[in-house]
Amino acid sequence: MSNPPNSVPNRLILRQPDDWHVHVRDGAVLESVLAYTTRQFARAIIMPNLAQPITTVALAAAYRERIQAAIPEGSAFKPLMTCYLTDEMAPDEVERGFASGLFAACKLYPAGATTNSSHGVTDIAKIYPVLETMQRIGMPLLVHGEVTDTAIDIFDREAVFIDRILSKLIADFPALKLVFEHITTAEAVDFVTDSGQQIAATITPHHLDCNRNAMFQGGMRPDFYCLPILKRETHRTALRKAATSGSAKFFLGTDSAPHTRDKKETACGCAGIFNAPYALESYAKTFDEDGALDKLEAFASENGPKFYGLELNKARVVLERKPFSVPSLLGDGALQLAPFHAGNRLAWRFMGLEKP
Ligand code: DOR
Ligand code: ZN
Repeated sequence: MSNPPNSVPNRLILRQPDDWHVHVRDGAVLESVLAYTTRQFARAIIMPNLAQPITTVALAAAYRERIQAAIPEGSAFKPLMTCYLTDEMAPDEVERGFASGLFAACKLYPAGATTNSSHGVTDIAKIYPVLETMQRIGMPLLVHGEVTDTAIDIFDREAVFIDRILSKLIADFPALKLVFEHITTAEAVDFVTDSGQQIAATITPHHLDCNRNAMFQGGMRPDFYCLPILKRETHRTALRKAATSGSAKFFLGTDSAPHTRDKKETACGCAGIFNAPYALESYAKTFDEDGALDKLEAFASENGPKFYGLELNKARVVLERKPFSVPSLLGDGALQLAPFHAGNRLAWRFMGLEKP
């Protein structure tokens, strides 16, 4: 395909990306959402915050089987399982799961920070023995970085987490591999940039594309409510600069978090944006708008596997500039879900894996 005069390409061929942070849920929702992730990504880090959290090797093995059973025929998708840390987590269990290749990482949810986090960690000191083990064996810690102190303004909880928890944590465990998940602030960008090579961060499509105004555009819009909550424009700009910078410390993690309509449109709606259906299209939008399409492959397909010490994928995916309208809802009946960008047009279209 020929390029337009300004030499912006109309076709992108990228090494197949992975999603380093996704919620695929369980049961009927798992069956209805998983194919969106397997269609675009070769591997994904599966979040463990089910109603019964994935806190043991046995629970993770069973959950992986349920995911594998839901993978569409012909897909080579590989789920990478994570272990949900609790105050009582035994270092041996974590080590056993990592040594066997089942656990790719552990997830730290401060108790009460987000969906299904009530079993999370109440005091970071309680998991120091687990962190010692993880540091020794080279197992990454994935961090939901928000304080849960309700006296702290919800828009400040990430920045305060850096000051109160994260700075000390990385000082106490200087060799611990740590991914600051779904960062949303300029403070987090600076923290990651200024830390050692063992510290990286994922960035979602929605935090790159939206600021907090999106939640109130013409009325209350629950589909834009997620955690960490969308921030003001200066933060979005800082995230975009980090993602498109080419720095190996920042990589793709969608945080796709489906909640059915009844859970979103209610007096106390759930946090989460379901972006899996058009994830690559959304990232391509950001990189295109910032004149950085040449940096998309590193962010989407190289930085993550290099940080985790995994092979790069061999397959390639194709994106073409073929504008299309995103449906306002996907799925049927009780399983209806609103995808990110619902009702809007996107310029880049995912065309599938490159045909040999
Ligand atoms: O918006 C979010 N949704 N943030 C999270 O941290 C969890 C997620 C979910 O599981 O729904
Ligand atoms: Zn998440």
